[in-house]
Amino acid sequence: MKKILIINGPNLNLLGRREPDIYGYDTMEQSLARLREKYPSLPIEYFQSNHEGAIIDRIHAVGFDTDLYAGIVLNAGAYTHTSLAIADAISAISLPVVEVHISNVSSREPIRHTSLISPVCRGVIAGFGMDSYRLAIESLL
Ligand code: DQA
Repeated sequence: MKKILIINGPNLNLLGRREPDIYGYDTMEQSLARLREKYPSLPIEYFQSNHEGAIIDRIHAVGFDTDLYAGIVLNAGAYTHTSLAIADAISAISLPVVEVHISNVSSREPIRHTSLISPVCRGVIAGFGMDSYRLAIESLL
């Protein structure tokens, strides 16, 4: 079975502690354990960085490996709303990328209503809490 790469952007290393009223109490490690339990034969890789360039480097590193990867699940955090560079990286690669948000960004502050990456992603899943990651994986299987 091909792999899925989940990439989380800035501040998502703080899940479980960060604004739990918005992002919940689960850590990413707990959510990953649940996903791996649900899909035992699916290799799920995980990468998190608070640095835009590191996220781009990782997208480049796997982005043409269509033999090994089914796709990328990307929660770019606040870079969603600002990073033309990440959008360009997504455009450049061959793998499909699904944009994910834990919160419903459309119901939050207006600045979060704009995504620079949505136009170059296969689709967007937002607002289902940590289950957004599972729904994104489903869309790539
Ligand atoms: C987020 C939404 C973004 O607006 C925010 O900057 C994040 C998390 C989400 O998962 O809901 O860091 O991507």
